[in-house]
Amino acid sequence: MKVLGIETSCDETGVAIYDSEHGLLADTLYSQVKMHAEYGGVVPELASRDHVRKLLPLIRETLAQADLQGSDLDAVAYTAGPGLVGALMVGASTGRSLAMAWDIPAIGVHHMEGHLLAPMLEDEPPAFPFVALLVSGGHTQLVKVTGIGAYELLGESLDDAAGEAFDKAAKMLGMDYPGGPLIAKLAEQGDRSRFRFPRPMTDRPGLDFSFSGLKTFTLNTITAHRVDGVVDAQTQADIAAAFEEAVVETLAIKCRRALQATGLKQLIIAGGVSANQRLRERLAEVVKKERSALFYARPRFCTDNGAMIAFAGCQRLLAGQESDLVIEAKPRWPM
Ligand code: KG4
Ligand code: ZN
Repeated sequence: MKVLGIETSCDETGVAIYDSEHGLLADTLYSQVKMHAEYGGVVPELASRDHVRKLLPLIRETLAQADLQGSDLDAVAYTAGPGLVGALMVGASTGRSLAMAWDIPAIGVHHMEGHLLAPMLEDEPPAFPFVALLVSGGHTQLVKVTGIGAYELLGESLDDAAGEAFDKAAKMLGMDYPGGPLIAKLAEQGDRSRFRFPRPMTDRPGLDFSFSGLKTFTLNTITAHRVDGVVDAQTQADIAAAFEEAVVETLAIKCRRALQATGLKQLIIAGGVSANQRLRERLAEVVKKERSALFYARPRFCTDNGAMIAFAGCQRLLAGQESDLVIEAKPRWPM
């Protein structure tokens, strides 16, 4: 089964074709990041317009990459939510309309299910069941996964998502959006032991998270080290390192707890923050202690992309699901 996947939930236009027999056939991505960086964050109206501009050319390019025509496809999968409603509508209406023209089924996919299954696109994929840590700009969740569509929420952030916390801390340090990768880069030059930031909610049982306090702690630390209105470069790097260390350590503590609580031996991490090198290193230590295995996607498939939507849609269709003629766009949608 050959499935065209379309992702337009936020600031990346992603298109891919996944074949249940031969794997990924083509994958294209257009990032709007530079345009939004000027405004310090994603501007919804500009995001929708740019998806409109880029989506059809990208679909054409993807078909050409795979040497296929629309009539060779078996289904279309598009991100139906959660995300920016205008941006979602572009992918949903385009995907649904193409499926109608090609007389094939369409299916609306949950964006976080896409992220969750992305590590399965790699050469040595995890097998069900596993514990998944979903860490993106909008979500931080621990999920027990026993099969396609069989997701049990173990814990989640009660306020900011981990990626959101990275982006806000980066903004305080005067960096561009999205700040996660920039903080990670700056942290490499930092002394990880100069400041100790709190590890929120780790001193009590449970698998929920809270990252908004870290924001305040970061701001207070920056304010306390301003000399004539500026923080010197080394102190900035030390703050970035302390911040990253606190987020990573908090996630690591909860992942270890989730493995212990479920008795499962596989941990997968997915979503933009799963590209973080320090998080990968720290979790490699955790799984070693727990005699478990760690899985993640290549960096390109950690952040938003069409491949994860094509793959998740294909799995859903193989399980016998499809959407009817409605165009699904759900800005809020629990997985
Ligand atoms: O999954 P994603 O592309 O979009 C959402 O669904 O939200 O995640 C984007 C988030 C942003 O907050 C970005 O700063 C963060 O992932 N991110 C990172 C890294 N790469 C992306 N955070 C920390 N370290 C990274 N290397
Ligand atoms: Zn995402």
